[in-house]
Amino acid sequence: MSRHCVTLPVIIFGLLQMAVALYSNPSSTHPNCTERCGNVSIQYPFGIGSGCFRQPDFSLTCDDGGGGGGNQPPKIFLHDGITEVLPDSGGTVGLSRLIDVAISHTIFMAPGIPSYNFSWNLSSFTMFDGSFNVTGCDFDIYIQEPGTNGSLWPCTNRCPQSITTETVARHDCNGTGCCIVYLGISVRDFQLKFVRHDNGARGDHDALSNGSALWDTINITSNWAQIYWDIDDQPTCARAKEKNINYACVSNHSQCFDDEVFDVGYRCACNSGYVGNPFVVDGCKRDEGYSPNQLKENCSRSCGNISVPYPFGLEEGCSARKLFKLNCTNATASMLQFDDDRVVAFINVTGSLVGIRFTSQFEDGQLGIYVSGEPDLFMGLGESVVSMHWAAANLTCDEALKNKSQYACCSNSKCLGVNSKDGYIGYRCKCLDGFQGNPYSISDGCEDIDECKTQHICKENEVCNNVAGSYYCTKTTKQQGLVLGVIIGLCVGFGILVSCLGGMLVIRRWKRDIQKQLRRKYFRKNQGLLLEQLISSDENARNNTKIFSLEELKKATNDFDTSRILGRGGHGMVYKGILSDQRVVAIKISKIMEQGEIDSFINEVAILSQINHRNIVRLFGCCLETEVPLLVYDFVSNGSLFEILHAAEASNDFQLSWDDCLRIALEAAGALYYLHSSASVSIFHRDVKSSNILLDGNYTAKVSDFGASRLVPIDQTHVVTNIQGTFGYLDPEYYHTGQLNEKSDVYSFGVVLVELLLRKKPVFTNETGTKQNLSNYFLWEKKMKPVTEIVASQVLEEATEEEINMVASLAEKCLRLRHEERPTMKLVEMTLQFLRAERLNSSSDVPASKQEVEELLGTSTSYSDTLLDNKAATTSQQSKGYYSLEQEFASTTLPR
Ligand SMILES: *[C@@H]1O[C@H](CO)[C@@H](O)[C@H](O)[C@H]1NC(C)=O
Ligand SMILES: *[C@@H]1O[C@H](CO)[C@@H](O)[C@H](O)[C@H]1NC(C)=O
Ligand SMILES: *[C@@H]1O[C@H](CO)[C@@H](O)[C@H](O)[C@H]1NC(C)=O
Ligand SMILES: *[C@@H]1O[C@H](CO)[C@@H](O)[C@H](O)[C@H]1NC(C)=O
Ligand SMILES: *[C@@H]1O[C@H](CO)[C@@H](O)[C@H](O)[C@H]1NC(C)=O
Ligand SMILES: *[C@@H]1O[C@H](CO)[C@@H](O)[C@H](O)[C@H]1NC(C)=O
Ligand SMILES: *[C@@H]1O[C@H](CO)[C@@H](O)[C@H](O)[C@H]1NC(C)=O
Ligand SMILES: *[C@@H]1O[C@H](CO)[C@@H](O)[C@H](O)[C@H]1NC(C)=O
Ligand SMILES: *[C@@H]1O[C@H](CO)[C@@H](O)[C@H](O)[C@H]1NC(C)=O
Repeated sequence: MSRHCVTLPVIIFGLLQMAVALYSNPSSTHPNCTERCGNVSIQYPFGIGSGCFRQPDFSLTCDDGGGGGGNQPPKIFLHDGITEVLPDSGGTVGLSRLIDVAISHTIFMAPGIPSYNFSWNLSSFTMFDGSFNVTGCDFDIYIQEPGTNGSLWPCTNRCPQSITTETVARHDCNGTGCCIVYLGISVRDFQLKFVRHDNGARGDHDALSNGSALWDTINITSNWAQIYWDIDDQPTCARAKEKNINYACVSNHSQCFDDEVFDVGYRCACNSGYVGNPFVVDGCKRDEGYSPNQLKENCSRSCGNISVPYPFGLEEGCSARKLFKLNCTNATASMLQFDDDRVVAFINVTGSLVGIRFTSQFEDGQLGIYVSGEPDLFMGLGESVVSMHWAAANLTCDEALKNKSQYACCSNSKCLGVNSKDGYIGYRCKCLDGFQGNPYSISDGCEDIDECKTQHICKENEVCNNVAGSYYCTKTTKQQGLVLGVIIGLCVGFGILVSCLGGMLVIRRWKRDIQKQLRRKYFRKNQGLLLEQLISSDENARNNTKIFSLEELKKATNDFDTSRILGRGGHGMVYKGILSDQRVVAIKISKIMEQGEIDSFINEVAILSQINHRNIVRLFGCCLETEVPLLVYDFVSNGSLFEILHAAEASNDFQLSWDDCLRIALEAAGALYYLHSSASVSIFHRDVKSSNILLDGNYTAKVSDFGASRLVPIDQTHVVTNIQGTFGYLDPEYYHTGQLNEKSDVYSFGVVLVELLLRKKPVFTNETGTKQNLSNYFLWEKKMKPVTEIVASQVLEEATEEEINMVASLAEKCLRLRHEERPTMKLVEMTLQFLRAERLNSSSDVPASKQEVEELLGTSTSYSDTLLDNKAATTSQQSKGYYSLEQEFASTTLPR
């Protein structure tokens, strides 16, 4: 019986096939086209050299820095010469629609010229998002549309007081010699205008500028920028198919999609279950990415203390497929990177599981890893992903067995399907019963288990015989000396046992004493901190908050059993527990034990113990005996708004009605308003999101997770803090300036409103597998078409058109880039309250009647306009300019 996975001829055949695959890759239509630039593969419709690309904008240049080989690795540029294309995670250009780019351009200023322009305009591309550092001094920067003078995000570059180099100014980029331009929304093209303060009069190089280019050059360099592309020779799929000339989606098993935002073109994608390039004939294939032969010898198989078994690998040629090549970013710290935000905790080849740990606060448990040209073979087990299933390939076992050269399972193993809650992922391998090892590995595959090594597997007077995959027992006649042996054995054994037990008792007592001392120490440390906080804020608070003992909480959670885990928040793990008085509670434990985290826990206790609000989760108390204090809350039984909104779409479970949505939004808004306006101090929540809006048995909203919140004295309007929050909900202005104010919560709440309307996640994956930002998507869609066309079908059925319009424009105002133009939480709450009252047809119990609201906001005939245009937007001249610019901006960027 061979214990090798595949025999030699099969290996050779596999290598041949790979070589053939490499050289016959139909990535271009022209036989003489270059398919690579350095190590980067260029895929049609992109190409290098005439005849190799589909439309002029897809012409690339491969720049190796001239004969000297200055650029190593070579750089790839679009034909404008300033946009450098960065390869995607699979090392290709052309397979992903969203492309990371680096843009750099320098303008030399000359005396007497008052202003300069920089524009980026490539008709096949849309800039999805970007941020630019502009160096230079003594000018204002505007994001400019032809014919207007306004700006979305202007900034001013002052000159430094002393000689400074560009590099130094760039380091802080704070307005002195450097300033950041941020495009918060997708644009088809943009133009920057630089207006010099002295009207360009300064001609001479004064003493200050000596030796620094800062005084006479403008350098625009992207911090980060992403663009996406469309086939633009026909405006829509329907038109392209109708004309049928040069229709781009030529592969079988491919589909056509219209551009989602601007009606300027279409794109192609392989059908579900197929991967590859839809733009070439037969480009979409079933998954062929797995190759069961390790190509390199002596592969390293560990990252610190995490073992990395085949089919995973750390180097080129050490993993079975691109997707399984992981990056060990720090071996001493065992940092095995899964993606930007997550690291691998363990890899289990027996159960085809991979454990995941989050390294950043931006948690999005839903997404696997994206590598272009590869299917998504990782699937989470639920909302709180700590381990994921993986499959060798997106094939059924039948399909996989047909192609032996790419079959993953070695001998003595079997093929099994992997299913997740979202459907079939692919196949995995498992050793047959009686065998153990790595079912994917050639060198140490499934080996027979020698069951006879396990003691007492046969009866006392029997002999054990091992066979492949099993064992059997036979009777023996030799029994002399056995009795004596047994007696001696028992005596010796008893002696050892007694001394061991004695030793163990001593050690246990000693350990217990140490633990007790530690607990007392932690208790003192934590309570000290806590009391300090409470005394500085509220004297009565201590009476409402109970201090629990660790013993009590251990009992309540069955010693923190993993089955009791409810979920993971940004700041810790949450367990469900039952106290001795039968109260059901949620207990939160921090995962990180830095002083900063402890402070944030204490912070939460301090805040919550002062609050008593129907729509804010109730804190019962805390436990201070552990290094990080544990918090004990009222258990909120129906999970979070996020779970209900986004789980329902998949499983057709419970769906929130529009009535519920409105009420929940109103309740959450009320809670936030309460926090912002509570008596002595204002509280900014800082992490408003649908997963922090919990729902109790009656689906009443309870705002939770105050780990990031800040108490702000009421006369202070903003504070500068470290950026905290969750990607997708984060206020771009706060992100940009680090200045926190109550309107950051309003922005995040706006995203929640959009979630309620569209029933999409804040960062969602569209049909092409591209991650898209919901607020961007919403703002642009709303400009392009009536809002009733973009809301979820259920909302459209249940809500009136007026309600949809009002909630949508409320959301739009909450999402304004400038905080001054966003409404206050009070106004948000009043708007929602009005809507709900209208809906219930009983405005009597509502404090704000139509007239009252109108009076508050100034008189207007159109009620909804007035209510939704907040004070700042209606009174400030500048804001009006902004608003009209925004409209013009939208209209001028439409296809011409
Ligand atoms: C490809 O290049 C070779 C030599 O450079 C030339 O002889 C051949 O005609 C070219 N083929 C095509 C299809 O242009
Ligand atoms: C291509 O990749 C290999 C292996 O990662 C590396 O050794 C080589 O230097 C790369 N070549 C270029 C031109 O980047
Ligand atoms: C702009 O500045 C950056 C950083 O100093 C530099 O790398 C880049 O080459 C400059 N751009 C141009 C076009 O000179
Ligand atoms: C901005 O950064 C420069 C260094 O480039 C520093 O000298 C200056 O103090 C900073 N200004 C502010 C307001 O932080
Ligand atoms: C842009 O400025 C920021 C400081 O806000 C700095 O961290 C970053 O490195 C700069 N980026 C570039 C490309 O110069
Ligand atoms: C895997 O293939 C099946 C068809 O066999 C398909 O239904 C499924 O969506 C595919 N999964 C992925 C992640 O591509
Ligand atoms: C691995 O991670 C390091 C450090 O983050 C990075 O410099 C390197 O490019 C990564 N390598 C690959 C192949 O992703
Ligand atoms: C790796 O991690 C160790 C321990 O956390 C740290 O001391 C070291 O600086 C890290 N090395 C790198 C290259 O980041
Ligand atoms: C791997 O997963 C399987 C199935 O879940 C489990 O039985 C086994 O104990 C795990 N192996 C290790 C080493 O954790």
